[in-house]
Amino acid sequence: MERTFIAIKPDGVQRGLISEIISRFERKGFKLVGIKIMVPSKGFAQKHYHALKERPFFNGLSNFLSSGPVIAMVWEGEGVIRYGRKLIGATDPQNSEPGTIRGDLAVVVGRNIIHGSDGPETAKDEISLWFKPEELVSYTNNAEKWIYGQN
Ligand code: GTP
Ligand code: MG
Repeated sequence: MERTFIAIKPDGVQRGLISEIISRFERKGFKLVGIKIMVPSKGFAQKHYHALKERPFFNGLSNFLSSGPVIAMVWEGEGVIRYGRKLIGATDPQNSEPGTIRGDLAVVVGRNIIHGSDGPETAKDEISLWFKPEELVSYTNNAEKWIYGQN
């Protein structure tokens, strides 16, 4: 089943939004298969955001991600990469629709509280950067037969 990497950034943690954010993914019907809290080093943050290294905000962004605890998660479900991005909303909260996480809970692009993988390749790379295989749990959730149906 498809998996994506989701992180609650230091601003989301400090603002007490961990349960709010987890709840939105959980209520949708996605399944949490990995979770931990950590303070990424600056080097780790730069690795995570390597695709943006030419952007003017790269240094500030990497400093910010490493400035405090981050909740790193792997969520599983049909279409979770693309739909996870929909739950999160547009990168700049000024453009995020109401009802999305950033639309409801954030105001500026530099403090947009959450990260989500943007495609299958980045999901795979980010999951292996943040998690060891044995930190991810495969299990059956009894609600799945109600979320997906039997056939
Ligand atoms: P992520 O899920 O965090 O990867 O966001 P995204 O995929 O919606 O956007 P992108 O990967 O292009 O940018 C990564 C992060 O860089 C964003 O979430 C923002 O926090 C930050 N960022 C993007 N554009 C800007 C910008 O113009 N200015 C600043 N200060 N930060 C930006
Ligand atoms: Mg991105």
